Amino acid sequence: MPKKIIYEPSRTLMEFRLLPGLTTKETVLENISLRAPFVYTETDDPKYYLNIPMVAAAMQSVSGVNMAIELAKLGGQAFIYSSQTPKQQATMVEKVKKHKAGFVEPETVPPDMLIADLHNLRNHRGYNTFPVVDNGSRKLLGVITKNDYDYKMHADQKVEERMIARKELVVGVEIEDIKEANKVLKESHQSVLPIVDEKDNLRYLVFRKDIRNHLDNPLEILAENKSLMVTAAINTHDYEDRVPALVEAGVDVLTIDSSDGHSTFQRDTLHWVNKNYPQIPVIGGNIITASGFEFLVEAGAKAVKVGMGGGSICITQEQKGTGRGLATAIIKVAEARDRYYEGTGKYIPVIADGGIVNSKDVVVALAMGADYVMMGRYFARMEESPTEKVTINNSVMKPYWGEGSSRARDWKKARYNQLQFVEGVEGFVHYSGKLRDNLPETLSKIKASMSSVGAATIVELHERAELEVVSALSIREGKAHDIYLPGKDADYSSINWGD
Ligand code: IMP
Repeated sequence: MPKKIIYEPSRTLMEFRLLPGLTTKETVLENISLRAPFVYTETDDPKYYLNIPMVAAAMQSVSGVNMAIELAKLGGQAFIYSSQTPKQQATMVEKVKKHKAGFVEPETVPPDMLIADLHNLRNHRGYNTFPVVDNGSRKLLGVITKNDYDYKMHADQKVEERMIARKELVVGVEIEDIKEANKVLKESHQSVLPIVDEKDNLRYLVFRKDIRNHLDNPLEILAENKSLMVTAAINTHDYEDRVPALVEAGVDVLTIDSSDGHSTFQRDTLHWVNKNYPQIPVIGGNIITASGFEFLVEAGAKAVKVGMGGGSICITQEQKGTGRGLATAIIKVAEARDRYYEGTGKYIPVIADGGIVNSKDVVVALAMGADYVMMGRYFARMEESPTEKVTINNSVMKPYWGEGSSRARDWKKARYNQLQFVEGVEGFVHYSGKLRDNLPETLSKIKASMSSVGAATIVELHERAELEVVSALSIREGKAHDIYLPGKDADYSSINWGD
């Protein structure tokens, strides 16, 4: 006999709908706050709060330097993946910590490069502006943009023949502040301002088109010295090497990346980090049961990730037969969290992770008791994910693969030699453009749902949400139906035209 059999099926987020509550002027969209506790701290340190309830998954195809920078600016966090060497990961953390809003560290080209080669590079990278520096140094010689050449007419010429030479350029010398760079740029007629040191070595570029964005990030998540807050993933194998490297690079928060966090390995990792680096909060996971929650919190986790088997690239349930619908997992863990809070006064944030597709899933996950959500697929589609765009069947896509896929595990084959199977797949997602252009719609839909419930904060959403399981027919009814939709591949046979 098994220890336990539960006959009530576990449920997914999409099986639920929110019932509306009383909407008031306090809960209109502009009064709604999406602020969420990121990790538990004894002093309830305001530094450890997110301004949007979304984080990007610790995955090779999702969370690199660009995603970590842009999402922190927009109020969330991207968890920098650990499926790379400690040194590579520490370099990523360092880049985010050193990032100065609006200051881009550009790719440079040499003066003797042919315009034909520059043109290919431009097509490949997607940048239009390249600073020209002396071979093997950072000495600024000029800047070349797409407006300075015609790739057919000038193909055989050298970059130095077409660039705007250094003596004709306005540059900023040792400028560290974006507002000051903005002033100099406004005085010039240029679209881009090179920033150099006293010896005229190139340091950064500041783009006119970027400035507005960088001056205006009211939700930015900052740590000490106005640097962006950075979170990085670790594993339960090499933490004694990895954590010191990440801390040295300036990491603020760590998260243990594992599909099954209810393990003594995870407890040992938590004990070790909490003993050696008590100033760095660690998020544990993933778990899907109340006992998993109690175990990890006892071991010292300052937040927990919840979910097993639901991710869009995940085949854990099929391969191992373990898992739980995300809705049930959140409910069980959030109940345990609330009991723990009543008993101890310590509020441990719960993160819903895996299979969250859109804003309606996010708000249902929050309503069930999650404090914020982790998403992979959603962020993999964005410009800032670390992958290159590809065109498939006339659609622009980006590759997306699981951390348990053979592609991700390739970084260190030896470790996984003992595993004879994969837990993740590799595929493609539709390219969606910049994060900054996509997030506002998602956030506004989340706020609109909260407004309907009558909740101005996520805490109020937890207290006031009423949810109901919906039938499959009810889900069908909730979509556009029984009309002809021009431009869509309609299944006419299923249209009910009525009497
Ligand atoms: P998504 O948002 O539905 O794409 O799910 C992303 C989540 O799937 C991640 O945050 C992980 O928890 C999980 N995940 C990532 N890679 C794998 C894998 O290879 N197998 C199983 N789960 C994975």
